[in-house]
Amino acid sequence: MKLFLDTANQAEVEAAVKMGVISGVTTNPSLVAKEGGDYIERVKYFCELVGGPISVEVMAADTEGMLAEARELAALHENIVIKLPITAESLAAIKQLKAEGIKTNATLCFSANQAILAARAGASYVSPFVGRLNDVGMDGMGLIAEIKAIFDNYDIDTEIIVASVRSPRQVTDAAMIGADIATIPFKTLEQMVSHPQTDLGIAKFESDWAKRK
Ligand code: G3P
Repeated sequence: MKLFLDTANQAEVEAAVKMGVISGVTTNPSLVAKEGGDYIERVKYFCELVGGPISVEVMAADTEGMLAEARELAALHENIVIKLPITAESLAAIKQLKAEGIKTNATLCFSANQAILAARAGASYVSPFVGRLNDVGMDGMGLIAEIKAIFDNYDIDTEIIVASVRSPRQVTDAAMIGADIATIPFKTLEQMVSHPQTDLGIAKFESDWAKRK
């Protein structure tokens, strides 16, 4: 399973790239709004720095508006992936963007049927939101398992991005199910790195080393 970083923060992307473990970045309007500065320049910088897919969301609600925004964003860099919330309007846009060779990420996916529709429209990626499903008492990871089984049944090549990840355990669960990608906040990445026994082990090695004869 590949790991993407779910952020619009430059320092976080730089730190994760330095670690050498992420192959893409996903942003959304809420994440972009939290950051200052020129977001278009930052997105172009991420494209170069990460060298992999960078998802950027369109804000229009109608197909034509989505297409206009998508074409403008896609022209910025070959690594740009256009993120569209799944609606009847966006499915039409996804189909057209595929015909134009522009990659898409169908986001705000909360059901297997939405994932089937996104795949059939030709989305490159679909992003089911695990944490937000759990927030309303539903089984987020169960949805990932359903979509994975359906895509396997029909050799669908749309990649599953497990999104709205809130804990390291969810990353393990997503990998066990066989999801293609988990997009994770920087905090979750930090939590994945650490283990108390690793810290204790390092401290013991250091103190033993200091006492060497
Ligand atoms: O990848 C989607 C993500 O940005 C949403 O996460 O925690 O706001 O549900 P969250």
